[in-house]
Amino acid sequence: MACYRNVDVVEPFPSGLISRFVILLVFLSTSFPVCDSEGISPERCLIWGPGLNPDTVLPVRYFFIQAVDSKGENLTLSPGKDTFKVKIGSLDTNEYLRIHVPPPLDRGDGSFLLRYRLYSTAHKGLKIQVSYKDAAVANSPYTIQGPVHHEYCDCPEPDASVWQSVMQCPADDRQILDDFKSFPTIDLQHLRQEVPHRFSNRGGLIHYAIINNHVYRRTLGKYTDFKMFSDEILLSLTRKVRVPDVEFYINVGDWPLETKTSAAVPILSWCGSTDTRDIVLPTYEVTHSTLETLRGVTNDLLSVQGNTGNFDTPEQNSPQFMSSSLVYFCLCYKLLNFLIEYLSLKEIALKLQLAGLNYVGMYFYTERQTGQPTQHADMELVPQLDDHTAACRCERNSYKEETDVKDEL
Ligand SMILES: *[C@@H]1O[C@H](CO)[C@@H](O)[C@H](O)[C@H]1NC(C)=O
Repeated sequence: MACYRNVDVVEPFPSGLISRFVILLVFLSTSFPVCDSEGISPERCLIWGPGLNPDTVLPVRYFFIQAVDSKGENLTLSPGKDTFKVKIGSLDTNEYLRIHVPPPLDRGDGSFLLRYRLYSTAHKGLKIQVSYKDAAVANSPYTIQGPVHHEYCDCPEPDASVWQSVMQCPADDRQILDDFKSFPTIDLQHLRQEVPHRFSNRGGLIHYAIINNHVYRRTLGKYTDFKMFSDEILLSLTRKVRVPDVEFYINVGDWPLETKTSAAVPILSWCGSTDTRDIVLPTYEVTHSTLETLRGVTNDLLSVQGNTGNFDTPEQNSPQFMSSSLVYFCLCYKLLNFLIEYLSLKEIALKLQLAGLNYVGMYFYTERQTGQPTQHADMELVPQLDDHTAACRCERNSYKEETDVKDEL
């Protein structure tokens, strides 16, 4: 018996007794929610996702398994939660790899989510084996050439465009574009005077400067404990990608701050509203889940997908939500980069062309941030972890500490 009941088999019987019997049979068979998985064809199953790409460094890496039957059709119901087994190990048999691989999460629709967390870097690489009964699934075993860095390995990709394409970052977020409309230029000198003057007694304000991919900050106000969120996100981001030098304020209070419509100053906030000018960071809940993902709490964004009972809103079932930790890092990078520069006119022209409009003109990159990001006297370095949990060799062919990312402009 496969997951799909073949309706043609049930001939229309004239006898009421027989049809009642058939109805009873159908009733009996539908009352077993887990269908027999004999129809699964291991080699026709599909496996895909960022967790198969060594360069997609995420706190928890993940990929998907789609069960496919011998006719080549996707299963749309769960074939049972223990259908697939996954083993992940180092390609180097002498390397002791610390790794956590929970069983695949049954998404209830014929697909599974496999997550794994590396606690150390696999320098030579990883071997991922997915099996159904004893047969190899799809193209298993998968060989992921190393180094496969773990979350706490401080090894930023120097070229942000390479990083963004590896991450397959989604196109520019409308919200970000809208938020930045009010700030064609950001004068750092003005920002440093105006923001503390107007907002330092309003609760929680954190002043950050990222210089040479190091994070510095000072706090203004009484309620700044939530800096642990922003610290952790910025540290995680700078371990993954080289962030341009940038200086900004984050409001960690739970209310947006900037209400001026003219001469507004840009403040990053966890929350926004239509009548304030704060630049909204990806939502607090997502931040929280991302942090828990970083810290290893099990009830994270990725694990909750298996718990479909709690997830019936469309956005929580969307691919966006699936990959939200990945999208989150993309958004954070974009946001910081938007503080520095405008969308280039070249990109705008390209978009107009794609929309069937011709645009002829000169193309520039326009700098939004004016002034040099500086470590304020009260700012301290927010250090990366420096213990055994962070130990790794950062191996990047092109890695140079002083590479100036803006050279290519
Ligand atoms: C089967 O599932 C995969 C993954 O979700 C999807 O890309 C593919 O289009 C599906 N195939 C069919 C025939 O629906």
